Amino acid sequence: MARIYTMVNQKGGVGKTTTAINLGAYLAKLGQRVLIVDLDPQANATSCLGVDKHTIKNGTYEALLGITQASTGLLANPGLGLTLLPSSPALAGAEVELVSQQSRDTRLKQALEPLADRYDYIMIDCPPSLSLLTVNGLVAARDGVIIPVQCEYLALEGVGQLMLTLQRIRQSLYPGLKVRGVVMTMFESRAHLSSDVVGEIRKHFPDQVFESIVPRSIRLAEAPSYGLPISAYAPSSAGALAYLALAKEVLAGDGVVLPH
Ligand SMILES: Nc1ncnc2c1ncn2[C@@H]1O[C@H](COP(=O)(O)OP(=O)(O)O)[C@@H](O)[C@H]1O
Ligand SMILES: [Mg+2]
Repeated sequence: MARIYTMVNQKGGVGKTTTAINLGAYLAKLGQRVLIVDLDPQANATSCLGVDKHTIKNGTYEALLGITQASTGLLANPGLGLTLLPSSPALAGAEVELVSQQSRDTRLKQALEPLADRYDYIMIDCPPSLSLLTVNGLVAARDGVIIPVQCEYLALEGVGQLMLTLQRIRQSLYPGLKVRGVVMTMFESRAHLSSDVVGEIRKHFPDQVFESIVPRSIRLAEAPSYGLPISAYAPSSAGALAYLALAKEVLAGDGVVLPH
C-alpha cells in the first residue's frame, strides 16, 4: 500500500514542486516505486519532468472529473524509475466544474485508490492556494502533508496560518490529517536570517521539522529547464545531497529498511 504525501503551502515559490520532484526522484533511486501527481494547473511538476503540458489529454483534470481513470493518464519515466500523473491548463477549470458535483472534496482520494497497490510512494504537488484542488490534495494525503518553508522573514507567520487551515480541515473533512514534516528550503548559510528562521520554526513546531535542510542552490533552479530532477542533472551538488538526505530521513521515519 503506497504512502501518500501531499506537498502543501499556500505560498508560491517556497519549494513545493522542487521538493515533490527531487524527493520523489531520490525515493525512486533508493528503490521505491514512486508516483508524482501534479495537482497544479500551472503544471510545473509536469514541465520539470520534461513533459509538455499542452500535449496532455489524460491527466489529473480528467481523473478528478471522472472522465478517465487515473491509470490511463500515467506517464512512466523508466530512466528515473518514477511515474507522473501529469497536469494541464485544463485543470484550472476543475475548480469551477467540481463545485456543483457530489463528493467534490474526495475526488482525488478516490481517483488514486486503485493505484495504491502499484506504488510505495505517491507524492502530490499542490497549487499555491487553499483552493478546492488543494483541499482534494489534503483529503488524499493518507500519510500526511509535507510542508516546504522558505528560510525567509515572516516564515513563521505563513506556517502558522497553514497549521490553522489544516486544523479546519481536520474539523470539517478529515480528522486524521497529519503533518509528516516541515522541510526548510532555500537556506543560505551566510545569512544569519536563515539560521534564525530555522531556529524559530523548530521552536514552534518541535519534532515536526526534518533534520535535512535544503540550501539555496543554483543547480536546483536550473534542473527544471533540462526537464530533469537534481539526481540526474547535478547529483553531486549541495541541493542534490540535501534531497538525498531528506529521502533517507523520510524512509527511516517510515520504517523502510534499505538493502545493504
Ligand atoms: N533550494 C533552492 N535553491 C534555489 N532555487 C530553488 C530552490 N528550491 C526551489 N527553487 C526555485 O524557486 C522557484 C520556486 O520553487 P518551486 O518549487 O516551484 O515552488 P512552489 O512549487 O512552492 O511554487 C523555482 O524556480 C525553483 O526552481
Ligand atoms: Mg509549484
